[in-house]
Amino acid sequence: MPHFFFIFIFTIFFPISFVLSRTTPLPSQTTVLDVSFETQKVQNVFFTDFNALNSLNQAEEVNPFEDSSSALSFQLHSRLAIEGIGSHQDYESLFMTRLDRDSARFNSILTHLNLVVQGDGLANLKPEEESELSSLEGMEMPVVSGVSQGSGEYFSRVGIGYPPSQAFMVLDTGSDVNWVQCNPCADCYQQADPIFEPGNSSTYHTMSCRARQCQSLDVLACVKDTCLYQVSYGDGSYSVGELASETITFGGEGGASAANIAIGCGHDNEGLFTGASGLLGLGGGDLSFQSQINASSFSYCLVDRDTKSTSTLEFDSITSLDAIIAPLLRNLKTSTYHYVDLTGLSVGGQPVPIPPSTLQLKDNGDGGVIVDSGTAITRFPMEVYNALREAFVKGTPDLTLTNGVAVFDTCYDLSQRKTVEIPTVSFRFSNGKEWSIPAKNYLVPIDSKGTFCFAFATTSSSMGIIGNVQQQGTRVSFDLKNSLIGFSNDKC
Ligand SMILES: *[C@@H]1O[C@H](CO)[C@@H](O)[C@H](O)[C@H]1NC(C)=O
Ligand SMILES: *[C@@H]1O[C@H](CO)[C@@H](O)[C@H](O)[C@H]1NC(C)=O
Repeated sequence: MPHFFFIFIFTIFFPISFVLSRTTPLPSQTTVLDVSFETQKVQNVFFTDFNALNSLNQAEEVNPFEDSSSALSFQLHSRLAIEGIGSHQDYESLFMTRLDRDSARFNSILTHLNLVVQGDGLANLKPEEESELSSLEGMEMPVVSGVSQGSGEYFSRVGIGYPPSQAFMVLDTGSDVNWVQCNPCADCYQQADPIFEPGNSSTYHTMSCRARQCQSLDVLACVKDTCLYQVSYGDGSYSVGELASETITFGGEGGASAANIAIGCGHDNEGLFTGASGLLGLGGGDLSFQSQINASSFSYCLVDRDTKSTSTLEFDSITSLDAIIAPLLRNLKTSTYHYVDLTGLSVGGQPVPIPPSTLQLKDNGDGGVIVDSGTAITRFPMEVYNALREAFVKGTPDLTLTNGVAVFDTCYDLSQRKTVEIPTVSFRFSNGKEWSIPAKNYLVPIDSKGTFCFAFATTSSSMGIIGNVQQQGTRVSFDLKNSLIGFSNDKC
């Protein structure tokens, strides 16, 4: 009997005293993750009515951008708000589909970069100006851009033409050309809104091949002095049509508008762009939307992907005073991508030991770290990722590791926990500023049973990418005039 009693006392009290005596790290070096809340949110995905289109249109009338600090803003929605959960039976299946899209997206950016960095690339692919192409077949080009099959994760509500037709557009910081599916369709995929009808717009004009915007295209052709464009995305999806100038309206009916914006009127479109009408290019090139409206800045706040909340994509708005500011860099080989001067990472307040050169953007176009709205998971070169993961695992000795899932090799079973205290992960920039990532943006649920994974991945490429999972709930501001980027947590 005394033996049993002793064992009872030992098993009950030893673990507790062990937990109590554990040295607690300083508060600023750790962040609390609300496991119950995140798990509940994931479960709620299957009980939320994402039948978006109707409710969105109503919401727009009731709430005309009252939270926006800029007259030039579009509503911004996560993919779930348009697509709903589709045929997914559980969160894990939804999550895996996202990861597949994400790999496709990442690979298409790498393919594009390899083309431009390796030199001859795009220019040689350009058909002779004024060449008379009798069919669009002649425009098939191995040119790829940021968006791959259905990879758009965030969408804006944009007014096209006059009177404006409202359309969902994929928001893409990884490409420049704006386009919309357009009647008459040779081949159009299914979209949520009616297909754009140029004949119904009094401001629609096709562009001449001599137009500056036409000459800025990577792939163009000319038929009877009408400028034809083609954009292709790594996985075989593409849009082909004529380049037009059109009016774009912000913030629903009666909003501000920008005239003479070059936008592709796509008659032949292939791919799964998730019911969106087209794409809004927010890359750094001349044809991107913000370049064309001469905006000095733009910002977006990527709402939580698992909710139907909305936010805004804004132009010429002021960067929040509490933003963590960092330098933006240009790749000398391509202006499309937005590079941030990331020089280091910290875990639990301690710098992660990585040679600074591993994150550096080289003059030959290699390396560097881009900020992208369409890629989900942040990726780093192997050496950087391994050091980051090692530091994080070291900082979480009391969490139960479990099997890796897909690209994630560091996952935890938190099914028995309500909250956990984890080391803060932050990004350090060349100007010494440090952006601390919210805990829920780097330890993410991958099912509804309490499995959470460290949401970073490795890449064999020398380029790193800051993805939208890490940007959720953060207003990311691009100050184009001063080449600065700002991150403000909790500013959606
Ligand atoms: C274009 O206008 C016609 C005639 O007013 C209308 O029936 C049709 O729905 C409009 N199409 C679109 C896509 O707005
Ligand atoms: C932007 O600037 C260019 C060049 O200065 C000018 O041609 C164009 O009209 C401007 N666009 C807008 C929308 O202000």
